[in-house]
Amino acid sequence: MPQVDAALFARLERFYDGVPRFAARVENVGPLVLFIGSNDAYPLYARPALEAGEKPSAADITAVRRRQRDIGAPEAFEWVHETSPDLLAVARSAGLSVLEAPLMVLDPDAMPPIADDESVSVRLLSPDDPSFAGDVMVRQAVAAIGFTHAGTGTGAAGAAERDAALTPLSAGAEALQRRRAAEGRAASALAELREPPGAALSGVVGSGMYQREGDVAEIVGVATLPAARHRGVARAVTAALARHALEHGAGLVFLSAASADVAAMYARLGFRRVGTACIAEPEVAVP
Ligand SMILES: CC(C)(COP(=O)(O)OP(=O)(O)OC[C@H]1O[C@@H](n2cnc3c(N)ncnc32)[C@H](O)[C@@H]1OP(=O)(O)O)[C@@H](O)C(=O)NCCC(=O)NCCS
Repeated sequence: MPQVDAALFARLERFYDGVPRFAARVENVGPLVLFIGSNDAYPLYARPALEAGEKPSAADITAVRRRQRDIGAPEAFEWVHETSPDLLAVARSAGLSVLEAPLMVLDPDAMPPIADDESVSVRLLSPDDPSFAGDVMVRQAVAAIGFTHAGTGTGAAGAAERDAALTPLSAGAEALQRRRAAEGRAASALAELREPPGAALSGVVGSGMYQREGDVAEIVGVATLPAARHRGVARAVTAALARHALEHGAGLVFLSAASADVAAMYARLGFRRVGTACIAEPEVAVP
C-alpha cells in the first residue's frame, strides 16, 4: 500500500461527510454523526464527525446504536481506517462486526483501453429518458439479487429472479433518483450480454452506479446476476462508470471492494489500494 496521503484522506473524509447530506437528516451524537435517510432514500449510517476533536468511545457507539434502533435505522457505521485508526478496536469492543474493505482509487493512466470485446453492452441512464424510473427499478432488482448472492461465484439465479425482484419506486423515491441524476450527483449503468434473441439470459444482467459530491465520485453497488458472472459484466460496468465520471469532470474516482477477489478485478481496471474502508454492523443485538 502506498504511504498514507494526508491530502487524499482529507478529501475522502469531506466526501463521506458531504455525500449523504443531500437526502438525509443529520444528528450529532458525541463525536459521531448519524445520517438518517428519508423513506425515499437509502438507509444510511453513522461515522466520525469531521474534525470532531475527540475520538469516539465504545459508549458513543452504544449511544448511536440506541438512537438508530429508536428510529428504526440500521445499526450501521462506516469510517476510513487510516483517518480513524483507533476506531476498529473500539467498534469491536462495542460489539460490532467490522468488514475491512480495500479502499481503492482510480489511476486514470492505468485504465485499460476500451475493449473491442462486444460481448457486453453498457448504457448509462439519463434522467430525461421516459424509461428512467423503470431502469432504476431494474438496477435495484439486479443489485438485490447480486448482493443476496455475495461473493464472486456463479449460480442459477438469473433473469427470472431479477424480474421477480422488481419493486415499483414510490413517487418520492423516483423524484429523488431523478434529481440526483439531473444534478450530476449520481449516475447509473445497466449491462446486457449480447446474446441471440430468446437466450435465457436476456435483459439486464449487471448494474452499478456512482455517487458524486464536488469532484469526487464513488462507484457503489456493482453487481452481476449469478448466472451471468465471469463474463466480464462487472468489468464493463465499472469501466463505463469510471469513464463517465472522468468525462464529467470528476478529479477523483474511488470505491471500496467487498473482498480481496473483487479488489483484484478492480486492480485490473486501474484502481489502486490506498487504505481500508471499515463497514460495521452489530455482531448481536443490544438487549
Ligand atoms: C463481484 C461481481 C460484481 C463480479 O461480477 P462479474 O460480472 O462476474 O465480474 P467480471 O466477469 O467482470 O470479472 C470477474 C472475473 O471474471 C473474469 N472474466 C471476465 N470475463 C471472463 C470470461 N469471458 N470468461 C472467464 N472469466 C472472465 C475477469 O477477468 C475477472 O477475473 P479477475 O477477478 O481474476 O480479474 C459479482 O460477483 C457480484 O455481483 N458479487 C456480489 C456483489 C458484490 O460483491 N459486488 C461488488 C461490490 S464491491
